[in-house]
Amino acid sequence: MTVHPQPGAAPSGSPPDPDGPDATRERERWTASADAWDRWADPMADLADKLNRPLLDAVGLVEGERLLDLASGAGEPALSAARRAGPAGLVVGSDLVPGMMTGAIRRVRGTDGPAPSFAAADMTALPFADAAFDRVTCRFGIMFVPPVEAALREVRRVLRPGGKAAFMVWGPRSGNGLFAEIGAVVAGHLGEDGSLDPLFRFAGPGRLSALLQAAGFTSTAESDLTPVRKAPADQPFWRAALEMSFGHRLDGLPPDRRAAIEADIARRFAAQAVDGIVPVPSHARIVVGG
Ligand SMILES: C[S@@+](CC[C@H](N)C(=O)[O-])C[C@H]1O[C@@H](n2cnc3c(N)ncnc32)[C@H](O)[C@@H]1O
Repeated sequence: MTVHPQPGAAPSGSPPDPDGPDATRERERWTASADAWDRWADPMADLADKLNRPLLDAVGLVEGERLLDLASGAGEPALSAARRAGPAGLVVGSDLVPGMMTGAIRRVRGTDGPAPSFAAADMTALPFADAAFDRVTCRFGIMFVPPVEAALREVRRVLRPGGKAAFMVWGPRSGNGLFAEIGAVVAGHLGEDGSLDPLFRFAGPGRLSALLQAAGFTSTAESDLTPVRKAPADQPFWRAALEMSFGHRLDGLPPDRRAAIEADIARRFAAQAVDGIVPVPSHARIVVGG
């Protein structure tokens, strides 16, 4: 099965959401963080899979189907989806920032068996034909798109009738201990720049569902995942999150300032440890539209 490119399809006419992020700043952030995402993709693969499985279950992906993954970054969940869709299926991963997909392309080279192909694509103007896919996924990406209504209309357009889309977003900052704690330390050292705010844009229950309905999805459902990770206090379990989510702020920082930030993060988590274990709560939400 081929997915026919359709250059210039469905240009966005929506004004940006006033609560949404700034497009230029987002592109710069992800370009600056791309190396860290590549570096951490393999060490984080098992944790990533714990989120990919419920997302792929929610979207209902089965063998032989065609799935488009938006904002794939270093390949999540596109690589897991390709394994599930199998040799008779088709998985296309995509991202606005080509550098973010460097890790995904590297990881595909080391994969035996079904693997996705990757294409640079802005989800507000997708280069794919109408009804080209059975399923669309997007893990922790939709919140970074200023004209989100345009992106959701594009998702509806590339889905076949009866197809489904599933988005994974973050719940409230207070339920996401890793971001909350690291964010507080980074802001204490470097000042608050608001770059964490977009992560929680769809933290309010029902917010993304309402936008999906406005974009033409007739049924929506939301479910929450609230795992608590038990992390060893004597290990820098927080470093991946620091480099992936705050890498654009650490770039070019003198080593002593970086070391001071890391020491404060380690101290902050150590203070929460019970018998050497730090409980790290997280809160993600899966929003499905059909
Ligand atoms: C937090 S990362 C998520 C990566 C991956 N899905 C994951 O869960 O590991 C967010 C990604 O959204 C991408 N992104 C931001 N705006 C986008 C847009 N308009 N179209 C497609 N991708 C976009 C960024 O380049 C970045 O790779």
